Amino acid sequence: MDQTDPATLPEKIPTHIAIIMDGNGRWALARGLPRMAGHRAGTENLRRIIEACIEFGIQYLTLYAFSTENWGRPLEEVQGLMGILENVIDRELQQLYDQGVQLRHIGRLDRLKPALRRKVLYAVDYTRNNDRLILNVAFNYGGRDEIVCAVQRLIQDGVKAEEVTDQLISRYLFTAGVPDPDLIIRTSGELRGSNFLIWQGAYSEWYFTPTYWPDFDKEELRKALFEYSRRERRYGGVISKDKGPSSHAG
Ligand code: IPE
Ligand code: IPE
Ligand code: MG
Repeated sequence: MDQTDPATLPEKIPTHIAIIMDGNGRWALARGLPRMAGHRAGTENLRRIIEACIEFGIQYLTLYAFSTENWGRPLEEVQGLMGILENVIDRELQQLYDQGVQLRHIGRLDRLKPALRRKVLYAVDYTRNNDRLILNVAFNYGGRDEIVCAVQRLIQDGVKAEEVTDQLISRYLFTAGVPDPDLIIRTSGELRGSNFLIWQGAYSEWYFTPTYWPDFDKEELRKALFEYSRRERRYGGVISKDKGPSSHAG
């Protein structure tokens, strides 16, 4: 297959891609601009990547936009990021709807200002019948916080110890009903997970690129898909010559 032709795609396409959109600040710094200019450029990139995912036939896309740890940034930046979420909903909701995108939110909304919280809930409700691309926006999301939240609700529901299983825990996470990510991409050269999808990513393939998020375009995404298509996912089993991964335990 001619991978250099931008029109070609690998045969094996992930069902669910998750992206840690990192490097906005450094993108701006490299241009002598304030960090917020990087966040704005990163926001512009969203449209390109969402469109590319739809074109490539991706069914689920999860974007890490604001972590539970990002509250520790200077107040001005935190407020700027809140404002960006608000603007994105105001400006992009109708187009996302027209493209068949179903918006979902993962994380906690309780720390957001009531007006922003209502806006997010409205956008989720407005797009709920779309199914071309399920777009999970991780905003005020932390993997540990998600597990804490799940355990609290399990206890509140009176679930007995012996009833707790892998599957049950998955159903109590913010991502209930969403298949685990096949591929997690992190831009900007950092080689860590930063509290993203720590349960769901147990067997995800990781792809790291030095490119800063505002520059991560359709062609970069296509490159990541080719890399993914060459990975051999074993899930702890062994690959037999003529079959897929297999194990006696499972
Ligand atoms: C990612 O870019 C966006 C958010 C975390 C909100 P950063 O703001 O982390 O950019 P760098 O890592 O400082 O370059
Ligand atoms: C992870 O990036 C969070 C998001 C991209 C939203 P950070 O820039 O916050 O992570 P660290 O601090 O480099 O681990
Ligand atoms: Mg960062």
